[in-house]
Amino acid sequence: MWSLVVGVAALASVATACRQTVTTVSGTHAPARVCGGDLIFSDEFNTFDLEKWQHELTLAGGGNWEFQYYDNNRTNSFTENGVLFLRPSLTSDQFGSVFLRSGRLNIEGGQPADRCTNPQWYGCERQGTPSNIINPIKSARIRTVESFSFRYGRVEIRAKMPAGDWLWPAIWFMPAFNTYGSWPASGEIDLVESRGNRQMFSNGAHIGTQEAGSTLHFGPFPGENAWDRAHWIRRNTNGWDRNFHNYQLEWTPDFLRFSIDNVELGRITPPNNGGLWQFGGFSRSNYLNPWRFGSKMAPFDEKFFLIMNVAVGGTNGFFPDGVQNPHPKPWRNTSPTAAADFLNAQGNWLPTWNLNVNNGRDASLQVDYVRIWAL
Ligand SMILES: *[C@@H]1O[C@H](CO)[C@@H](O)[C@H](O)[C@H]1NC(C)=O
Repeated sequence: MWSLVVGVAALASVATACRQTVTTVSGTHAPARVCGGDLIFSDEFNTFDLEKWQHELTLAGGGNWEFQYYDNNRTNSFTENGVLFLRPSLTSDQFGSVFLRSGRLNIEGGQPADRCTNPQWYGCERQGTPSNIINPIKSARIRTVESFSFRYGRVEIRAKMPAGDWLWPAIWFMPAFNTYGSWPASGEIDLVESRGNRQMFSNGAHIGTQEAGSTLHFGPFPGENAWDRAHWIRRNTNGWDRNFHNYQLEWTPDFLRFSIDNVELGRITPPNNGGLWQFGGFSRSNYLNPWRFGSKMAPFDEKFFLIMNVAVGGTNGFFPDGVQNPHPKPWRNTSPTAAADFLNAQGNWLPTWNLNVNNGRDASLQVDYVRIWAL
């Protein structure tokens, strides 16, 4: 009798202790059971846990002909004193500068952890020529694709943006299963992106280290992406590179909201009728709505995983032609030799990265912690 009472009481207390939540999770590091408000994924970076963080190995350039080669190398990604560093370096440090213009780089490896992760856009092998050089920068991009993905929750990532000309840090989320089809039909959540230039202006506005942005990408196919309806920027005259800040996401079945240091940057609250198809302005089109079987938050009603990286340059216009910078932008976004044009100006941009000071702290994306809670 006594044990039955205790058993019933224990059951009751478990039942009350675990609040039901709409948050769902998957991955090797996802908790087996999720209760409302639980911390469901975190990293304080006291060690570099590669069971959580998979490195991308690719020359693909992010689909934007960015100039970096993502590798798994402790020159480019490491933890120190509880902080994660994603740090760019020169590819020529490893292979020499002649190699960039004449060598063949095949990054495919035989071990499971050495496999090229993105073959798209000549991502696994490139032949260098004088006009079409091998990616001149090495950097890192890490992701929780195997370890953790989640749908709905609260995210706080404490980070410090890098400084240095043409650096492009990003902390973002991609769909784990492409439930609604390939990009951008299944969405993309960009928590923070910035540019490392300390004094870059466009139409009078500082668009370098003083600007941080959050964006959602969504649409039925790449040519129809309504990101401009869900893009917000915040200026900080001190520069986002000077201090750590808390980049936050609150994601529920009703809205998705970005904040920095507890101040809202922007949000979407899709209409009950029509959801993001309506909000994105697609309901006036004749395209088939890939989200018609989803909720009003679709495609943001499925699981996403986390990605953090430092990219460099690229030709998609993230660095617009005609920006004002102490040393002008060395490539045009229409140039077929953009990476070579960039490398030829190394004497201008490399000093701004301060790689020789403090092990390249200035040019590193630094992350103090990642914390994700269930709703
Ligand atoms: C790691 O990067 C450094 C600096 O670029 C390079 O010298 C070294 O060869 C790399 N290690 C491997 C195993 O690729």
